[in-house]
Amino acid sequence: MRKQWAVVGGWLLAALLMPNVVAAVERAASRHPPGAAIASAHVLATDAGFEILRAGGNAFDAAVAVSATLSVVEPISSGIGGGGFFLLHDARNNRDVFVDARETAPESATPAAYLDKNGELDADRATNGPWSAGIPGLPAALVHLAQNYGKLPLKNTLAPAIRIARSGFEIYPRLESGYGSRREVMERYRGTRALFLADGTPPKTGEIFKQPDLARTLELLAAKGFDGFYKGEIGNKLLAAVEEEGGKWRADELAGYKIRERDPLRLEYRGWQITTAPPPSSGGVALAQMLQILEGWDLSKLDAAHRTHLITEAMRRAYRDRTIYLGDPDFVKVPVARLTSRDYAAGLRATIHPDKATPSALLPGLPAPLEDDETTHFSIMDVEGNRVSATQTVNLVYGSGMVAPGTGVLLNDEMDDFALKPGTPNAYGVMGFDANAPAPGKRMLSSMTPSFMESDTQLAVIGSKGGSRIITQVLLAILAHDAGLNARQVAALPRFHHQWMPDVISAEPGALDTDTIKALQAMGHTVNAGESPWGILQTVVWDKQANVLSAGTDPRNPVGKAGVVLTP
Ligand code: DON
Repeated sequence: MRKQWAVVGGWLLAALLMPNVVAAVERAASRHPPGAAIASAHVLATDAGFEILRAGGNAFDAAVAVSATLSVVEPISSGIGGGGFFLLHDARNNRDVFVDARETAPESATPAAYLDKNGELDADRATNGPWSAGIPGLPAALVHLAQNYGKLPLKNTLAPAIRIARSGFEIYPRLESGYGSRREVMERYRGTRALFLADGTPPKTGEIFKQPDLARTLELLAAKGFDGFYKGEIGNKLLAAVEEEGGKWRADELAGYKIRERDPLRLEYRGWQITTAPPPSSGGVALAQMLQILEGWDLSKLDAAHRTHLITEAMRRAYRDRTIYLGDPDFVKVPVARLTSRDYAAGLRATIHPDKATPSALLPGLPAPLEDDETTHFSIMDVEGNRVSATQTVNLVYGSGMVAPGTGVLLNDEMDDFALKPGTPNAYGVMGFDANAPAPGKRMLSSMTPSFMESDTQLAVIGSKGGSRIITQVLLAILAHDAGLNARQVAALPRFHHQWMPDVISAEPGALDTDTIKALQAMGHTVNAGESPWGILQTVVWDKQANVLSAGTDPRNPVGKAGVVLTP
């Protein structure tokens, strides 16, 4: 409890000190960072990134190395059987680009295919095994980054991941307990048993876990590029595995996978230029709505209860719109301009009572329990000023649970991110309607929100995992950076979340003190304080004024690493 006050107090104190910081801004800001910084959810991935930078690679080469290594050492969270989003800043031409490597739906994935005989959503099909998997996007992203942005060939940048897949790495508690929670599903599949029960028993903390098939698959990707994964031996094995387990993917759907380059979404908030994820992520649109609603108040002047109330009301409204309007922009018309306009935000702000909760039940929906979830984020900045903010995923813990035999590839269960049955909540308790209905080749809506925030004096690369809670974590991180917290404090900050449905403020221990909870309840909020912690936030910050780089990994994840290497 004392710690919580220290954090909240620290935030306020930092906010009060802000005018002095701003007053010192007159000196010319540096044009390049003094070195490189990486924050990722695993020490081996962060080290792989630095290894590639030392070998002459840039931030994009390092991103390939970090991404592929995370695929090897965090199979619970992401992998080349899944997808992700990479927000890039290319310093050569001062351009930001959003590389969309989201999975796509196969033609077999009609809404009817996910209903049981009573017409209810078949949650097992939606989250486990071949029907839950979309066509993977991550391998295509690695090839795209190497071909268009990196300096080094995949043979070099994939080398650390290949080495670690072959020689193994030490199992840590999250992998062991996650396996325990998914054991029944994973052991349904021949390929998964061969990999995870290679020694006859489930993975145990401290054991060395080797993935020789995955090493070979990565070698083929390095040698042959796109075709090494999506066609030929590996492609055929993926198709055969899906078929063997009763699913249906066509060869042309796999071979026809395409990443999309999109314009990132941009907005301004209190002097910060925020660059973030456009659809098919819901993150950027929701962030724009929430920040522009909140801009109407000086949050640093409010007590904790009113600040939490107003942030919650902004969250509630943005998540409601997410449910109704957001989907793959290649398939549905998403009213991005309207949803992200200042006037629209002002209209929403006007509906917020200063000290009374708006019941979500005015806008009907069904609450659902949140399931375990996994995903991973990393942030990179290099000495040339290139940046990568990337979030990648296989969706739930160990994705679909299904490894395609002979490939080491654990398939995702991203199909559950579609509104498979309109109005029925998915594993994150979020739902959707037509805009996010499945269709052949369509991308499922995501909450992944890799972002940059930049002012005249500061530049931060941020993002996190956490399913539907990603967007609110990024929101709180932006507010905390704005209030003057540093990278480590921002990652450590206790979190709260509201997603319209269920109509509850979820809070980590220490996020809200007893008086604040009471005050929120008096305003009409339902508060679940003391939920298990969520998210793994990774931040890299360049203080352009002082020319200081810093990186913060989330203390909730003991195997993460954030580091800075200064250029001599
Ligand atoms: O794209 C999405 O929104 C989800 N599939 C992300 C899953 C996730 O973050 C799970 N994390 N802990």
